[in-house]
Amino acid sequence: MLYLVFVLFELLFANAMYSSKALEGYTAGYLADCPGSNIPTPIDPKYLKYLTISVQQGRSFFSSRSTYSYYQIDELPKNPHVNFSQPSVMYIGGYMDHPSYLPGKVLGVLYKKLGYNVFLLNTNFFTVFDYPLAARNVRSIGKPVAEMLVSLTQYGLDPKTLSIVGLSLGGHTASFVAKNFKLLTGINISRITALDPSGPCFRNLGPEDRLDQSDADFVDVIETNIDEYGMAAPVGHVNFYVNGGEFQPGDVFWVPCTGLCSHIRSFTLWVAALNNPDSFIALKCDSVQDARDKKCYDRTPIVTNIVGLNTDRTREGVFYLSTDNNYPYFLKEKGLKKKYEFFNSHLSLNRRSGTKIFGEQLFESMFSKLYKIKLN
Ligand SMILES: *[C@@H]1O[C@H](CO)[C@@H](O)[C@H](O)[C@H]1NC(C)=O
Ligand SMILES: *[C@@H]1O[C@H](CO)[C@@H](O)[C@H](O)[C@H]1NC(C)=O
Repeated sequence: MLYLVFVLFELLFANAMYSSKALEGYTAGYLADCPGSNIPTPIDPKYLKYLTISVQQGRSFFSSRSTYSYYQIDELPKNPHVNFSQPSVMYIGGYMDHPSYLPGKVLGVLYKKLGYNVFLLNTNFFTVFDYPLAARNVRSIGKPVAEMLVSLTQYGLDPKTLSIVGLSLGGHTASFVAKNFKLLTGINISRITALDPSGPCFRNLGPEDRLDQSDADFVDVIETNIDEYGMAAPVGHVNFYVNGGEFQPGDVFWVPCTGLCSHIRSFTLWVAALNNPDSFIALKCDSVQDARDKKCYDRTPIVTNIVGLNTDRTREGVFYLSTDNNYPYFLKEKGLKKKYEFFNSHLSLNRRSGTKIFGEQLFESMFSKLYKIKLN
């Protein structure tokens, strides 16, 4: 039984033993098309009071925040915890997200510690509907949010020191904010970091209807679940396909990390990257297919890039990032060597000859932290 599971594993997660694309066709990706989803929804101005920005005021998980609606935005610069001589970041959450949920809490504290003004955009009111409608709504709130940012520029906010971090659906919300900011001012926001920007309802849309590298001076994308909740196209300047981009190794290694788990990994990985600068080193690939197939190890010349705030903006393209299965996930230089690739080394269990009882191998794996390299 277990053996069967592992054969499945091999088929699903490692390089396919043979290609059956001619029989199977190609994946369309989860909820690829949502007809009508690029038609903006009209937003009644009375609902803009629910469109708010919260200011992170301290460096602790329990720090207070002050919240300003669309109609109160001119009050925000008076907040003593805002100093526009410092860089600013705006976090935009995903489907049904809220600044007081875990992702906003964690990033709020982290960026505050890094010396940023931290703004947490609350899109909750507009995204708690069924997903395709939420995907339409974020298109419409791009303009009012951009107007809020334009107001802040009058008090000293410099778009060239402003980054937006968008998680999942928030990656596209960030795009619509940036597109509208550019329309209003003619100026690009400096950076958008998209954490597995959502694929459902966006996969087959063009650059004007989804996140695109033209939205900001620099767009970096962390791809962790490209055919399901995320999107496969390399829409940023720098695109990191983590472990091939689709499935991530399970934190408990024998429990597969499937769709949602892999999608959320983009967030935990970003947290790890902020906490461990220069620790995630990715390898440039010639194509997304090569990243999917983990075929970037032998590419010459070797070009690398760093995940996190120190990404080299001049090294654009598709990158493959190999990780460990446990937080903080980074492999540093080891990640550049194929033998440390998680699934490949994991599956070397199957290639070992002479062991009769599979459970014995599993046992050894569980208790030997070195299982990845030792079992060869
Ligand atoms: C704002 O930040 C700048 C640059 O870090 C610093 O020099 C200045 O003292 C700060 N202003 C206040 C009021 O804290
Ligand atoms: C905005 O950024 C895009 C992509 O980086 C770039 O092509 C474009 O020239 C920039 N526009 C402005 C007005 O700076």
